[in-house]
Amino acid sequence: MFPQTRLRRLRRPILRPLFTENTVTTNDLIMPLFFVEGATEKVQIASMPGQYRWPLADAAAVAKDLASDGIKAVLLFGIPKTKDAVGSSAFAEDGVIQQAVRAIKTAVPSMVVITDLCACEYTNHGHCGIIHESCDGPDLDNDASLELMQKIAVSQAAAGADIVAPSCMLDGMVMAIRDALDAEGFASVPIMSYSTKFASALYGPFREAADSGFSFGDRSTYQMNPANGREAVRESVLDADECADILMVKPAGFYLDILWQVKELGLPTAAYQVSGEYSMIKAAAQNGWIDEKRIVMESLVGIKRAGADLIITYYAQDVARWIHGQQ
Ligand code: PBG
Ligand code: ZN
Repeated sequence: MFPQTRLRRLRRPILRPLFTENTVTTNDLIMPLFFVEGATEKVQIASMPGQYRWPLADAAAVAKDLASDGIKAVLLFGIPKTKDAVGSSAFAEDGVIQQAVRAIKTAVPSMVVITDLCACEYTNHGHCGIIHESCDGPDLDNDASLELMQKIAVSQAAAGADIVAPSCMLDGMVMAIRDALDAEGFASVPIMSYSTKFASALYGPFREAADSGFSFGDRSTYQMNPANGREAVRESVLDADECADILMVKPAGFYLDILWQVKELGLPTAAYQVSGEYSMIKAAAQNGWIDEKRIVMESLVGIKRAGADLIITYYAQDVARWIHGQQ
């Protein structure tokens, strides 16, 4: 008689697809893109083979190409010509990200354009806001930086962003941005908060891509300690209370326990498979040590299984092609 419970019964090749609990589709994917003000040619990012820093002139073509592969949403980062201590170029009407938004919305109106809302690419010190002198030395001035985030949010919404995505990890960031958007007539623009963002070594390649390395210290006075799980959930609870529309856990793969708990809060939940996650997979794949396609799909279905409704990944376009049977 033994064993009567046989889980292998449903694993026959013809039965297995019927019992797949989670599937990654192009509806889940958000593609990050970097636009460089003043650039004339695309430049491959050395630590992220297959990813580029794009000139603004290519924005329309890039968006059309993504749309043709079924990608429905992009997350934009801008690298400005000029940086200063207070990140002024982040909220300029003709700033790099504002121009990129307009170009993409004009070329592909159906593309959901999400803007990363932060100052670190726009400040000369590379931190995510305005610096003041604290008892521990120079540090992010939380409340002064909130005013900066409000200005950036309004200028991104005015440029036509469909969703703004604050990534600065300041206290009170979501409420401040909601207030500013509502006051300026953008009450219907959703906020996708980088609500639980860890101070991670996995952002290394991004900082080359976005030219956003810092001149002193690190981001650990505002981004979270990777050791802390309870605090990680609290960070997202607070943002939900401040009216965030979408929560996010970042990075993704090392933090699936957090993702699961944040999803349980009941809001749409995103996970960001960050630059270092991409680079690690890519490097091993280029060495022939792993099967890139299988590893990527396994990493993404794992993120989905842990609770992600949306996955931000540099592999988005590759995955869209694989899903549709190309390459
Ligand atoms: C900026 C920002 C970062 C990332 C997204 N927005 C870097 C950082 O906080 O240093 C990381 C993305 C990635 O590594 O792919 N606040
Ligand atoms: Zn930042």
